[in-house]
Amino acid sequence: MKVLTTGGAGRISSTVASARIDFATTPVILDNLSTGNAEFVEDRIFYRSDIADTELDRRIFAEHPDLDAATHCAALAAMEEPVREPLAYYRENVAKTAALLENLVESGRRRRAQY
Ligand SMILES: NC(=O)c1ccc[n+]([C@@H]2O[C@H](COP(=O)([O-])OP(=O)(O)OC[C@H]3O[C@@H](n4cnc5c(N)ncnc54)[C@H](O)[C@@H]3O)[C@@H](O)[C@H]2O)c1
Repeated sequence: MKVLTTGGAGRISSTVASARIDFATTPVILDNLSTGNAEFVEDRIFYRSDIADTELDRRIFAEHPDLDAATHCAALAAMEEPVREPLAYYRENVAKTAALLENLVESGRRRRAQY
């Protein structure tokens, strides 16, 4: 079983991806490396792209027909800037999540990953 794992080059999601491997599922990582660490995805299935890139999302779904769930941790995670620039963070984190979810639903994938 494969699980789309967004933000998999980041702190939280790279750990989630490791746990996933421990539980015999394969993470398919989608991360634009805006803040992530490329070393965390070196030995993993990895697509460098934005979560809201519909064309690439569709390519991932086509290349991994056995991908049937998703864990979404890609985000700009900062403490102070979002307070000063809330709309920019809504655009990045909320609007792009909506686009990703639309792409997942369009592809028929509606499940959250369960361990
Ligand atoms: N670190 C913590 O202690 C902690 C605690 C609770 C919740 N969280 C939440 O977990 C999430 C991840 O936090 P983190 O600490 O791992 O952050 P992080 O910056 O280490 O990881 C986020 C990853 O998402 C990627 N990313 C960001 N925007 C993207 C986009 N549009 N498309 C593709 N990839 C994108 C980044 O490149 C990065 O690899 C955030 O929502 C954060 O609020 C973090």
